[in-house]
Amino acid sequence: MANILDGIKLSKQIKQEIKEEVSKFVEKGNRAPHLSAILVGENGASVTYVDNKIKDCQAVGFRSSLVRLPETISEEELLNEISKLNIDDSLDGFIVQLPLPKHIDQEKIIMAINPDKDVDGFHPENFGKMALEMDGFLPATPYGIMVMLERYNISTEGKDVVVIGRSRIVGKPMSILMSRKGNPGDSTVTLTHSKTKDLVEYTKKADIVITALGVPHFLKAEMIKDGAVIVDVGITRVDDSTKERGFYLAGDVDFSEVAAKASWITPVPGGVGPMTRAMLLKNTMQSYTNNIQ
Ligand code: GUN
Repeated sequence: MANILDGIKLSKQIKQEIKEEVSKFVEKGNRAPHLSAILVGENGASVTYVDNKIKDCQAVGFRSSLVRLPETISEEELLNEISKLNIDDSLDGFIVQLPLPKHIDQEKIIMAINPDKDVDGFHPENFGKMALEMDGFLPATPYGIMVMLERYNISTEGKDVVVIGRSRIVGKPMSILMSRKGNPGDSTVTLTHSKTKDLVEYTKKADIVITALGVPHFLKAEMIKDGAVIVDVGITRVDDSTKERGFYLAGDVDFSEVAAKASWITPVPGGVGPMTRAMLLKNTMQSYTNNIQ
C-alpha cells in the first residue's frame, strides 16, 4: 500500500508558516498582504474556489477583496476593472478566476494583468521566466506539486516523469518545472496528451506519473510500474444523487487499485487541491515582501 502525499496536512503547515511571517511584518507596523479576486458570473465550481481563496486569506491574516461582475460584462469593461487593480498600490496581487464567459477572450485578459501582480503565474512573462529559470510567480498547482515533492523528500533527479495533459495551467508548466535544474527537478520528462500514441507504453515505464486530464478513474494499476509515485491533479464533479451536494469529486486515478501498487500517491480530495490554495498565498506573500521592502 502506497504512502499518502497528504496535501491537507502539508498545506496547513505552510499556511501556519505564512501566518507567522505575516504577524512578524504586521507587528513591525507594516500593512497586511492584500489579495483580490475577480469573479465573473455564477459558475458553481468557480464560486466555491473563490470563496475558499478568501477564507484562506482570512486564516493567515491577509486582507482580501472580491470584485464580482455579471456574466454579461463586456471584454472592455473587464479590461477596465483589471486596469484599476493593476495600479492599485494597496494590492499585492489579484487573480481573474477562470473559466471566463465565451464572449471574452481569455488570452487578452491574462495579457492585461500586471505581471508583478499576477500571483496566479498565468501571464506569458511569468511563464517565460519559469521556463528560463528566472524568478517570477509560478502557477499555483504545479508550484504546489513541486513543494509537495520537496517536503516529502521524493527523489526526482534522473527520474522518468510522465505528465498527462498539456494545459497551460497544469500540464505544460509541470513538464517544464520537472525538467528544470534543481530539486525537485532534474527529471527526464515526457509530456503526453490526447494525440499521444500508446500512452500506456510511457506510463508503464514512469517513475513518477502526474495526471491532469479530468477523466475520472482513468489511470489503472496495470498502467503503472511497481513503486511509482502518482500525483493526481484531476478533480471532476461526478453527479451523485446520494450525496447531499448532488455530486462527488473524482480524481484521474483509480485510487484503490493504483494505491496498492504505487509507493506514494495523492488522494482526491485532499492531495493537490489544498496545495494549490496554499501556493496562491505563497505567491501573494512573495509579492508583498517585494512591495514593502
Ligand atoms: N480556474 C481553475 N483553476 C484556477 C486557478 O488556479 N486560478 C484561476 N484564476 N482560475 C482557475
